[in-house]
Amino acid sequence: MNVQPLSLRTKIIISFLVVIIVGGSLSLYFGSRLVKRTIISQAQAKVEHDLAAAWMVFNEKLNDVKEIVDFTASRESIQDAIKHDRQDILFKYLSRVRNENGLDILTLTDNKGKVILRTRNPEVIGDSQAEDEVISMALKGGICSFPQIVTRSELLKEAPELAEQAYMVFIETPKAAQRPEKREENGMMLKAASAVVDENGEILGVLYGGLLINRNYEIVDRVKEIVYKDEKYKGREIGTATIFQHDLRISTNVKDEAGNRAIGTRVSKEVSQAVLVEGKPWIDRAFVVNDWYITAYEPIRNISGDIIGILYVGVLERPYIDTTNRVILAFSVIAILSVVLLLILLFISTTRIIHPIKEMVFATQRIAEGDLSHKVDVKSKDEVGILADSFNQMTTDLKTANEKLIEWGRTLEKKVEERTKELREAQAHLFQTEKLASLGKLAAGVAHEINNPLGGILIYSHLLLEDLDKNSPYHNNLEKIVKETTRCKDIVKGLLEFARPKEPEATLTNVNELLNKSLSLIESQSLFQNIQVEKRYSADLPLIVADSAQLQQVFMNIILNAADAMQGEGRLTLRTSLSSDGEDLIIDFSDTGPGIREEDMEKIFDPFFTTKEVGHGTGLGLSISYSIIRKHQGTIDVQSTFGEGATFTIKLPIAGGIEDD
Ligand SMILES: Nc1ncnc2c1ncn2[C@@H]1O[C@H](COP(=O)(O)OP(=O)(O)O)[C@@H](O)[C@H]1O
Ligand SMILES: [Mg+2]
Repeated sequence: MNVQPLSLRTKIIISFLVVIIVGGSLSLYFGSRLVKRTIISQAQAKVEHDLAAAWMVFNEKLNDVKEIVDFTASRESIQDAIKHDRQDILFKYLSRVRNENGLDILTLTDNKGKVILRTRNPEVIGDSQAEDEVISMALKGGICSFPQIVTRSELLKEAPELAEQAYMVFIETPKAAQRPEKREENGMMLKAASAVVDENGEILGVLYGGLLINRNYEIVDRVKEIVYKDEKYKGREIGTATIFQHDLRISTNVKDEAGNRAIGTRVSKEVSQAVLVEGKPWIDRAFVVNDWYITAYEPIRNISGDIIGILYVGVLERPYIDTTNRVILAFSVIAILSVVLLLILLFISTTRIIHPIKEMVFATQRIAEGDLSHKVDVKSKDEVGILADSFNQMTTDLKTANEKLIEWGRTLEKKVEERTKELREAQAHLFQTEKLASLGKLAAGVAHEINNPLGGILIYSHLLLEDLDKNSPYHNNLEKIVKETTRCKDIVKGLLEFARPKEPEATLTNVNELLNKSLSLIESQSLFQNIQVEKRYSADLPLIVADSAQLQQVFMNIILNAADAMQGEGRLTLRTSLSSDGEDLIIDFSDTGPGIREEDMEKIFDPFFTTKEVGHGTGLGLSISYSIIRKHQGTIDVQSTFGEGATFTIKLPIAGGIEDD
């Protein structure tokens, strides 16, 4: 699979993002835990405080019962009525006290604890209450008040309605501990008992009163009113208080689903275990009836210190959870916004960092494509800036080196071309020289053999001619013989000259002067009458070491050839100059004749090559000239375009001299 590599910027952003996200998540996680714990623990502390207030209300109520009983028992009229056994007065008076103070029971016993008057149920008397823990304390001559479990049979004695009020069938409660019972028949009472003592300190009896808590909502509602001021959250009351008889809700303002007080329901198993079994307070969240509450539970004990029930307060957990969630949400939103802001900043800053690097990448591509003049435009002074500067310096150097290389290549090419040309020329000259040498040997042999007989013929024909009368018919023929023989002799002489040239005599020679001298020798000829001669001599030519007689012969050959070619009409230009390197002397002969055919160019320096009619040319002029110039270590060349004249060029080295055979 072909995976696109990540760009530098993406890598930087991803690595920063990882740091931000990991850091953000960790702080969000621990932050929200901290927030939650703080809010919940504050709520918990408040609930604990609320429980103390609930105890105050509870104890106040107990104290009310105690004070009523105490006050009533201390009345003289009561003592008198007991002494004089005035049941009617006692009944009337105590009934009024019970009714006025809202007590559920108010009962009188004699000093043995035997009931002598029940204001609520006057028919039932004569039973002993001496076993009752609270009453037995009062029988010793004092006052005692405590919450207490009162059995159904006792309640029935006090008043059948009270037994009815206490009777409660358990309602199925999730999370409650299993119990074998299905109902509660006993009740819980705030009970106070006080001895009735006469002026002599003799105990006449005991007066006891009580308030049945089952289905009596005074205490719990008062707690709610004092502590929670009827606060509500989404239509639900926040604060709740409950009094449990063992694990059973007998008085509460916790509501069930139908909105009724949840009496008959029971406390959760874990709270029951902690508070009822282990006797410890429970301060934590707890599932109450149908929702989670932040709660505080403490055991209610009777006079013997046995746990008979629980006092509970609690607040709905939901508002606190919602607050916590709101805080966490706000926290998260801030965190996300910060991440977004950081990303934007990161994007901007990476752009600023990456831009010069991108520039450099672009530049390297341009350079790879061959654009060495491309420059990186980075202005920063940091490492990237330094890199860019070095980069630019590098490309500049590279460019210079490259240009030098190209230049060098060009020079090399030119040099190779020059050398090749020189080599080709040298080869051509060598070939010519060798050709001439072999031809020369042959010609010399023939010429030598012919020379002497020709000499003989010439001498004898001369002698004959001297002796012959001028009018003789043979005179004319003989003259022709002499003339032709002389021509033959000249050819042979030329051949010999070519084959075995005379030893050159080296003298210091002025080329310009020598040209003039050569011209003057032939200018007077009729062939030159209509030929313009133009001299373009260089004034500062050095003298050269040369055989001037031989050079003159060469010059004359070339000039005569030109005159021949132009057929006596045209312009001959003689030019002398120094070569550009100053090492050679150059002599040009240009004519306006017909020029040389392409196919003849190679042959004109060959001996006996001539295009002239028989008797007019020997074809030796240029080959002799060639060997003379070679002896002077120079070169002779021709340039011509057929129809446009010809130019012969002689090049003589200034420091040359003459070569020996
Ligand atoms: N200036 C010139 N213009 C045209 N052709 C020339 C010229 N010089 C020499 N030639 C040719 O070169 C040939 C050889 O010349 P050369 O060796 O002097 O012999 P010849 O003059 O006896 O012919 C000539 O026949 C002629 O064809
Ligand atoms: Mg000639």
